[in-house]
Amino acid sequence: MTVPSRPHDQETILVTGGAGFIGSHTVVELLSLGKHLVIVDNLCNSSEEALHRAKILANNNGSLVFHKADILDAIALERVFEQHKFSACIHFAGLKAVGESAQIPLGYYQTNVTGTLNVIQLLQKYNCRNFIFSSSATVYGLPTSEAPIKEDASIGALNPYGRTKQYIEEILQDIAVSEPNLWNIILLRYFNPVGAHQSGIIGEDPNGIPNNLMPFVAQVAIGRRPVISVFGDDYDTKDGTGVRDYIHIVDLAKGHVAALNKIQSTVAANSALGCVPYNLGSGVGYSVMDMIHTMSKSVGRALPYKAVARRVGDVGSVIADPSLSERELGWKAEKTLQDMCDDLWRWQTQNPDGYITTSGTSTPTTPTPASHSSIVTLPTTLLPIVTSVPKATLKPIALDTEADSPAAFAMALSPSSSPAPGPNADIAF
Ligand code: NAD
Ligand code: WQD
Repeated sequence: MTVPSRPHDQETILVTGGAGFIGSHTVVELLSLGKHLVIVDNLCNSSEEALHRAKILANNNGSLVFHKADILDAIALERVFEQHKFSACIHFAGLKAVGESAQIPLGYYQTNVTGTLNVIQLLQKYNCRNFIFSSSATVYGLPTSEAPIKEDASIGALNPYGRTKQYIEEILQDIAVSEPNLWNIILLRYFNPVGAHQSGIIGEDPNGIPNNLMPFVAQVAIGRRPVISVFGDDYDTKDGTGVRDYIHIVDLAKGHVAALNKIQSTVAANSALGCVPYNLGSGVGYSVMDMIHTMSKSVGRALPYKAVARRVGDVGSVIADPSLSERELGWKAEKTLQDMCDDLWRWQTQNPDGYITTSGTSTPTTPTPASHSSIVTLPTTLLPIVTSVPKATLKPIALDTEADSPAAFAMALSPSSSPAPGPNADIAF
């Protein structure tokens, strides 16, 4: 089969895990800049629909080729490398549930560590040494003080998931040292990504009971779960509940663009970064109660909550010092906590069941039989799943509208301009 690819003189970026929560939002930012992307994802925790929507949100700028493949399948992965020449890789693919990682640590080490080794070995073999890795604030473990955490703070993850990130970071450091002046590896240590694209068209779609606070809060708000459990009310924080550095998912996505720019300018200057960590956080801490109150404002009513025991392994306060990213990447989180909650609520009301479509229409794909990976080139036109929304209506709401309330966005989305539907209503997309 002929696989559409970019000519070799045009830069193509490999994005593993690009259909996931952070990946899909980053894909929108990159496509909007006209980038050419190849996405590898096995869809174990995501939907291909997110990619179709990302393409639309980027107004069909750039190009996107999707390979449904597992990063543990080294043969399938190499086929992808044989078909495209990559200038850089953003590596999101991996497993991320802290609790699950304690139950199946082998699975986590295999997917996260072995999977990353597969990717990095092929990058080396095919002579691409520009790599952005999804690391996590979790590598810092127990903060030694209440002060915002700098990148040179001590590392010591507290659970198997966190240790996969810590070990991968160390492996990447070793690789950079082994080939001096060749590698540009950026370790992005995300703090707490929340929210959704401001259009409400893509967002976080967790399987089962959400592990993280805000997807759980959103599901309580929409009526899928009865009450928010507040884990611990006796931390040494302003109101006793846990404090975190929440960062809007679009700000986080833009952090990847900034990292890519940093690598590009370094390469252009005939230099190399080696392996460098950067925090992606806002530098501001909010408590669980702050989050519930702010989300209540977005929803327009007080959300129910109850205090329960602390979660095992939780810490009181984790806040980033993002100043290095601001200085060296020229990146800074810009969106407010209210933006995070408004956008999350917009996504949740427009997609009460996540990417499952109420019409039952499945996303069209072109699977490649008898292959290690199915290769799908996403069309540049709107797909059937969204053609019920007139094109002229869809385009402005995504990017140009000045509407700033969930109701206004829902009205803009609806062909009949009907008012925003309530919780659990069928929402045509
Ligand atoms: P996600 O689960 O939404 O995205 C991960 C993607 O990787 C999914 O699309 C999944 O299908 C894919 N994937 C998983 N295993 C794969 C495999 N073996 N082969 C191919 N694809 C595979 O998670 P996310 O929140 O978007 O996180 C992206 C990355 O960022 C992960 O590495 C995660 O550990 C890291 N991270 C996330 C957070 C967070 O709070 N969301 C915080 C810090 C770091
Ligand atoms: C936030 C706050 C909880 C759920 C986790 C991972 C970390 C990183 C980000 C990937 C805490 C409280 C939560 C609930 C609650 N992921 N909470 N009720 O724990 O900071 O970090 O996600 O790298 O590795 O550990 O995020 O969203 O789970 O919790 O009260 O139902 O909300 O105690 O204070 P956390 P979180």
